Amino acid sequence: MKRISLTQYLVEEQRLHNSIPAELRLLIEVVARACKTISHAVGKGALGDVLGTAGTENIQGEVQKKLDVLSNEILLEANEWGGHLAAMASEEMEHIHLIPNRYPKGEYMLVFDPLDGSSNIDVNVSIGTIFSVLKAPEGMHNPTEQDFLQPGAQQVAAGYAVYGPQTMLVLTTGNGVNAFTLDREMGSWVLTQRNMMIPAETKEFAINMSNMRHWHPPVKRYVDELLAGKTGPRGKDFNMRWIASMVADVHRILNRGGIFMYPADLRDPGQPGKLRLMYEANPMAFIVEQAGGAATDGKGRILDIQPTKLHQRVPVFLGSRQEVEVVTGYHQ
Ligand code: AHG
Ligand code: MN
Ligand code: MN
Repeated sequence: MKRISLTQYLVEEQRLHNSIPAELRLLIEVVARACKTISHAVGKGALGDVLGTAGTENIQGEVQKKLDVLSNEILLEANEWGGHLAAMASEEMEHIHLIPNRYPKGEYMLVFDPLDGSSNIDVNVSIGTIFSVLKAPEGMHNPTEQDFLQPGAQQVAAGYAVYGPQTMLVLTTGNGVNAFTLDREMGSWVLTQRNMMIPAETKEFAINMSNMRHWHPPVKRYVDELLAGKTGPRGKDFNMRWIASMVADVHRILNRGGIFMYPADLRDPGQPGKLRLMYEANPMAFIVEQAGGAATDGKGRILDIQPTKLHQRVPVFLGSRQEVEVVTGYHQ
C-alpha cells in the first residue's frame, strides 16, 4: 500500500480544497514535529529523567510535572522562528507569548495544552498534546490576550497527539478528521485513518464517577439512567471507561463512539468544570463536530461560547451525537 505522509496530505488537501495555505501547512508541520520530540521524551521515561514534578505551580494552581514544563518549552521553541505565528498561549503560561522581534511574524495564533493527562505521566498511561489554531486580527503582529478570545467556531485548525502504545496525530482543518501514525523508525507521520466518523449511537460513557455526590441534577439523572441498564428507561446496558487523559478518552470515542463528560458541579460556583475552554474544550469540540459528533457545555454548542478569559473553564459533554443531545436536553 502506498504510504501518504503528513506533508503530502497537507499539500494535496490544499490543491483539493484550497484550505491549507503554505503558512498554515508550515505551522501544522512544526507542531507535528514538536509532538514527535515530546513523544520521544515521553518514551524515555525514567531513562530520560522526565518523570516527577518540576517543583512549580501553573496559573491554575496545579503542580507542574517535568513533562508539562518540557513539552511547553518544546512547543514554544519549535514555533518561534518559522514566521507563521503572531503569538502563542498555553495552559502552562499565565500570559500570552509574543513572537520575539528578532523573528518574522505571521498571521496565526497557536494555543495549546502541551501535556494533557499529567496525572498519568508517572504511571505509564497514555497522555497527549492538544492544540488549536486561530487567526490574528488582520495585520496584527503584536496581538493582545483580547485577540485570543475568539469563539471556537473561528478555529482554522485543531488537533491532538496521543502518546500511547502508538504515537498518533489527529487533525482537522475544517474538512473532516484524519489520523496519522508516527513511524518511529522513519520519524515520519503516516496517514492511517481518513475521515474519522463517530458512531451516532453508543453504549459507552466516560465521567469521573467519584464526583457523583457533587453533580447537578441533570447530570445525576442522565448517569443514573445509563447505570439502570436494560431494565431502565434507556433499555440497554452501558459500559464505562475513564482514562483521566482527555486525549485518550476522546481518541477512543472518535474510534468507537461514546460520550465524555466533565460537568460543572456544586463544589465551586466560580469554577465551572475542570477543563479549559481554549486549550481543551474548543479544539476537541472542533474535532468531534468534524467527525459527526456533538459538543456542548450542557446548554449550547461549545464552539459558540464567547471566551471572556484565556484560562476560562467550561463544562464539557462531547462525543456521539444522540447521547450528547440527551444529556444536554436534561439541562433545559
Ligand atoms: P491536564 O493534565 O492538562 O491538567 O488535564 C487533565 C484533565 C483531562 O485530561 C482529564 O480528562 C481530566 O483532567 C482528569 O480529571 P480527574 O483528575 O478528575 O480524573
Ligand atoms: Mn489537559
Ligand atoms: Mn496539561
